Amino acid sequence: MTRVAIVTGGTRGIGGAISVALKDLGYTVIANYAGNAEKAKAFTDATGIPAYAWDVGDHQACLDGCAQVAADHGPIDVVVNNAGITRDGVLHRMSFEDWNEVMRINLGGCFNMAKATFPGMRERKWGRIVNIGSINGQSGQYGQVNYAAAKSGIHGFTKALAQEGAKFGVTVNTIAPGYIDTDMVAAVPPAVLEKIVAKIPVGRLGHAEEIARGVAFLCSEDAGFVTGSTMSINGGQHMY
Ligand code: CAA
Repeated sequence: MTRVAIVTGGTRGIGGAISVALKDLGYTVIANYAGNAEKAKAFTDATGIPAYAWDVGDHQACLDGCAQVAADHGPIDVVVNNAGITRDGVLHRMSFEDWNEVMRINLGGCFNMAKATFPGMRERKWGRIVNIGSINGQSGQYGQVNYAAAKSGIHGFTKALAQEGAKFGVTVNTIAPGYIDTDMVAAVPPAVLEKIVAKIPVGRLGHAEEIARGVAFLCSEDAGFVTGSTMSINGGQHMY
């Protein structure tokens, strides 16, 4: 049976690698994206993975977007909540808008996507939800009260929903990436990043494909007994 999987923020960075990994394993993959239509088109042209645009922080847009995906491709079995943004800054300079926008998209997006898809998984008695957390949600990070709080919230969200899904064959897990060589990490000031990389025991940034392989396992039939867990993939930077 071909499973239908949605990857939010699925056209580039970690999300792009996840979309490709799931497609290579035979899933029907749909990549959601928010804004960068040019990159999304290039991704679809290169991979054959259709891209659907909506803002995961918008509750109604998630309900409508997922309904459209289900109408076009069939019921949604797998959701990877990967979409996320940073608005870094020390608290005394952080605006309420920068706080709110990160919470709305990074944490609110998980709720919105689950509301759109979890009831169907529950009814069909099979589902996989993988939420992308962060090392910085586990350990905190200077200049990221918004991002760390949202990512930390994802861990609580995962553990609560895992309990609700367990008897219906729906697993819910978190992957907590460390610093991965994506555009998001490239935006960290070079001098700051140099100090961060120096603290990674493996001695380098991670690759998006290394996160994608973890997601692929958690989405598989073999992972049916894994739920409510956090898989940390961070080169040993934070052992949790
Ligand atoms: N611990 C302690 N002090 C720190 C610090 C740290 N980690 N980082 C910066 N500081 C200190 C600096 O040394 C400096 O102190 P002095 O004024 O005494 O010299 C002071 O804070 C101000 O530093 P900046 O000049 O960098 O200040 P800024 O206001 O221009 O920028 C910042 C602050 C936005 C937080 C910037 O340091 C920054 O972008 N840091 C990176 C934050 C980060 O790691 N983000 C991760 C993004 S990637 C991601 O989030 C993906 C993921 O999941 C892993």
